[in-house]
Amino acid sequence: MKHNVFYYSLAVSLILILSGCKKDFKSEEINIIPRPSGYFSFPGHFTLNNKTRIIYANGDTLSREAGYLAGQLSANKKLNIKTVSLKNTSYVGKDIILRINPDTDYGKEGYAVKVTNKNVSIMANTPAGIFYGIQSFLQLLPPGFFRSGGNADEWEIHNIRIFDKPRFRYRGMHLDVGRHFFPVSFIKRYIDLLAMYKFNTFHWHLTEDQGWRIEIKKYPKLTQIGAWRDSTVVGRCCKPPLHYDGKRYGGFYTQDEIRDVVAYAASRHITIIPEIEMPGHSLAALASYPELACTPGPFKVATRWGVFKDVYCPKEKTFRFLEDVLTEVMELFPGKYIHIGGDEVPKERWKESRLCQKIMKENGLKNEEELQSWFIRRIEKFLNAHGRQLIGWDEILEGGLSPGATVMSWRGIEGGIAAAQQNHDAIMTPGGWCYFDHYQADPEFQPLAIGGFTTLKKVYSYNPVPEDLKPSDKKHIIGAQGNVWTEYMTDEKKVEYMVLPRMAALSEVVWLKDDKKNWHDFQRRINTHFDLYKIKGYNYCPGSYKVDINAVADSADRNKFEITLESEIYKADIRYIINSAKNPDSTSTQYTAPFTAKKGDTVKAAVFVNGRLMEKPAVKIL
Ligand code: ACM
Repeated sequence: MKHNVFYYSLAVSLILILSGCKKDFKSEEINIIPRPSGYFSFPGHFTLNNKTRIIYANGDTLSREAGYLAGQLSANKKLNIKTVSLKNTSYVGKDIILRINPDTDYGKEGYAVKVTNKNVSIMANTPAGIFYGIQSFLQLLPPGFFRSGGNADEWEIHNIRIFDKPRFRYRGMHLDVGRHFFPVSFIKRYIDLLAMYKFNTFHWHLTEDQGWRIEIKKYPKLTQIGAWRDSTVVGRCCKPPLHYDGKRYGGFYTQDEIRDVVAYAASRHITIIPEIEMPGHSLAALASYPELACTPGPFKVATRWGVFKDVYCPKEKTFRFLEDVLTEVMELFPGKYIHIGGDEVPKERWKESRLCQKIMKENGLKNEEELQSWFIRRIEKFLNAHGRQLIGWDEILEGGLSPGATVMSWRGIEGGIAAAQQNHDAIMTPGGWCYFDHYQADPEFQPLAIGGFTTLKKVYSYNPVPEDLKPSDKKHIIGAQGNVWTEYMTDEKKVEYMVLPRMAALSEVVWLKDDKKNWHDFQRRINTHFDLYKIKGYNYCPGSYKVDINAVADSADRNKFEITLESEIYKADIRYIINSAKNPDSTSTQYTAPFTAKKGDTVKAAVFVNGRLMEKPAVKIL
């Protein structure tokens, strides 16, 4: 019999209510991010201790997931939890059981977790679903569990049933390793974050003007020359005068390292999409092989940020080079998508090139945008012939889309809309919501960033499916992704600071249906994740300390307003002052509940932590 766990859980709830258990039936607050689409808690708890084992059914299918769970639990040095295959044990006691249960209705990535006094069971249709169930289970444990020393050796987990599946099939995070290079150890640490938040795709931006980062055996100069720059611009770029540090900088991943990272990600059910930029953002490649450009060069690996005029020239030699590079890339990355960039391609060199103009004439191409599309189409044919699919940034729409291309919409949502309307899949990464290189709080109080202003709350508010798409086109929006460009992220700690906690907010955007999102509940949950970040040594931004002063006029007396004060910070100490030339300080009135003020009043409010002003006070004149 096929049983649908959603109906099953509904039935259980009804039985609990009808049998008079209602007063005991309380939904415990859970801290899981992304929030599961359905759950309820019930009285009692499971005790996790040294007698607990992780038992995996289904032969060896889930041995990897069992090992992963044991590895995560081993952060707690008081416990030593073993894995055992069901085929090697006849007794199932107070254990954690992982089981593929093909009867459930979870699709490829959904799962159920059941915690009772007797045991914990995690069920799904697939190992990926089991893995997401494990992530939710781990987040039922208090952050203190993961502190390595001085832990208790018994942990109670409140009884709960969770039934969950994602909204989108593409849930991505990107990382630019061209502008700054990050070692394999950090890439794995970053992938760990993706795993915790149930992302299934890591978009690895491997080539840039400022550095080529992947070993290609056939073209050794790419990493002998292209992976290194002589110097790096310091501070805000790029209005003169520019300052440079004068230090050689660079690095690259060997093919063995890439294979290691791909396997590491795969064991966390994360597919890596490699990005090999073309035809622009290719100075590092041109510095290595100048014959691929339209002009003779020589070229240098870029030492400042921005967009550069020298791009690949669409000659046969270039296509041979790119096809050779992609051949090695495809051997390393087994996923179906290959990202070819396509963004920010100045056309000057192509306009000046006799060869380009000849190609355009011979192929009836009206302008250089169409020449770019011709270029991309050629690459798409090559990828398709090898069973892969092409993704490009939304500029690939400009001269006409390649037949099977998926579009990453970054300059807003329009690219995604246009792609979907042309029956192409689109991944939403619009700057205003998904660019985690933007400031996330008042720049005056933040480390240097590229610009923009994309707060945690704004990321959380994002709905990747544009309202004005026809229902039949909406299915082409396959998900969303956070982009992490690293011009201003010189080290690992800065990357962590910029992505945490915004990637947690995005994880809920791509996992949970929009009408189930709840900002205030997220605010509470993310606060507990801050504890986890501290324990795991991740750097993070606590959020924007700015106070929103909301004023609602009284319907009977338009001169009267009800004022509410809010900030992104959970349970913030907000102090305010009315009609004063002074700013609020830590002794000003503490905000505890909405209050009234009248027309013409000036309200100033700010957040304090341990008596310290955290950001400029907000001011509103009513
Ligand atoms: C991009 O941000 N240039 C895709």
